[in-house]
Amino acid sequence: MTQEKILVLDFGGQYNQLVARRVRECNVYCEIASYKTPIEKIKEMKLKGIILTGGPNSCYEEGAPTYSKELFELGIPVLGLCYGAQLMSHVLGGKVERAANREYGKTKVYVDGEMAENGLFEGVPAETVVWMSHFDYISKLAPGFKVLAHTDNCPVAAAGMAEKRLYAIQFHPEVLHTEKGKEILFNFVRKICNCSGDWRMDSFVETTVKDIRAKVGNGRVLLALSGGVDSSVAAGLLSRAIGKQLTCVFVDHGLLRKNEGDEVEAVFGPKGKFDLNFIRVNAQQRYYSKLAGVSEPEKKRKIIGEEFIRVFEEEAKKIGAVDFLAQGTIYPDVVESGLGGESAVIKSHHNVGGLPDFVDFKEIIEPLRNLFKDEVRKAGLELGLPENLVFRQPFPGPGLGIRIIGEVTEEKVRIVQDADFIYREEIAKAGLKKLPDQYFAALTNMRSVGVMGDERTYDYAVALRAVNTIDFMTAEAAEIPFEVLQKVMSRIINEVRGVNRVFYDLTSKPPGTIEME
Ligand code: XMP
Repeated sequence: MTQEKILVLDFGGQYNQLVARRVRECNVYCEIASYKTPIEKIKEMKLKGIILTGGPNSCYEEGAPTYSKELFELGIPVLGLCYGAQLMSHVLGGKVERAANREYGKTKVYVDGEMAENGLFEGVPAETVVWMSHFDYISKLAPGFKVLAHTDNCPVAAAGMAEKRLYAIQFHPEVLHTEKGKEILFNFVRKICNCSGDWRMDSFVETTVKDIRAKVGNGRVLLALSGGVDSSVAAGLLSRAIGKQLTCVFVDHGLLRKNEGDEVEAVFGPKGKFDLNFIRVNAQQRYYSKLAGVSEPEKKRKIIGEEFIRVFEEEAKKIGAVDFLAQGTIYPDVVESGLGGESAVIKSHHNVGGLPDFVDFKEIIEPLRNLFKDEVRKAGLELGLPENLVFRQPFPGPGLGIRIIGEVTEEKVRIVQDADFIYREEIAKAGLKKLPDQYFAALTNMRSVGVMGDERTYDYAVALRAVNTIDFMTAEAAEIPFEVLQKVMSRIINEVRGVNRVFYDLTSKPPGTIEME
């Protein structure tokens, strides 16, 4: 596939993935790579442009991440952001120094110079607000550069050398606080780099289907389908490419949300519209008996994880050797595993790089490996997956097992499923301006006295959780209108046997976690 490509050269900044996403939003494909990538490799990439990200270092210090001057002499447009801007100036003969004060937060910026020589700022007003976060600043321009913008404290908020298509921006256009950030990045990738914008989900689906066919040939592919967005889109894509050569194994561990197992079956099973072999394993009782008497959170997680491997292994044995094992790995998994870019290993994904040894297969196939989550969703819609599946909120692998505090029993699963169903139904009806990023009901392990009708009750308390978050690493409890919470409370107590109290969980993360265990 010959596609226009931008490289995001990562100097360890916290917004590296965001930069890449913004470029993709301009319909231009891009990849993140470490600043340690050798120049020969960069030359081979046939790039339309390069973006240098921010980073935590000072470029004039010994040992700070850097790049050779050659990078700026390839004839490829380069845009440096924050650290990347300073580095570009430093390497090309300008000067970077530590300022007396850090410039941080929303800052007014003044665009200088003629619009004509100023393509980067086309459509940006003479005064605009940007997001700044820097201590060092460019105190002297590199030869040939002109100032394109400044702030009250920073003489070079942006600089450029139009004839060589080299640009340096001190602020962060990728952050939404920068009012015209999208326009600036669009100007760079579409106008300065001359990208036509050939990265679209319909063409992604089309080319990936072709690639899968070429790779798989007559081979057989096995996919563990969880019903989550990533594995579902992978299933849709593979099904379109190779039909019945694909077998999906869906393990219903009895810890799914209400009706979820049937919903997955309705989409991918024999009555659905996808052409594939679908195997549903009803392993509910098996999980419940393994989990009986276990209340320690980590132990529960371990049992659920291991049992999945056992069940999948048994099914794989029945199927016999396959040629490919497919996985729904997506781009952030790849980057966060330290395989792309410069970001520290945030979490080690069991499904990136490491191959499971319990399935007899020759090769791994990861059709979504280059996509961000929002792109995975677009591909899902393109493939005709139902919206409720494509836009479904994150749901953890161990499922309701970590939303039931203490021992898991079939009865408790029923309670939390019913309560959660009501909660989601009422949130959907409430017509909130913005849905919380994740919301669910959990079951506390607490029972207390109540009265219903004339009878004394001694029942469980349900906790409602709703959080807003950007990256799921930190989160705030969402503000749900009181009358909505009241309605949910009253419905749960009336309709769900075994519950006589409902709490709303106000805890943020940290110190809490989003899930209960
Ligand atoms: P916590 O509870 O750690 O959750 O604040 C952060 C996000 O991760 C999800 N989560 C998991 N997802 N397997 C998963 O696939 C897990 O074991 C797991 N634990 C938490 C959680 O739903 C939230 O979105």
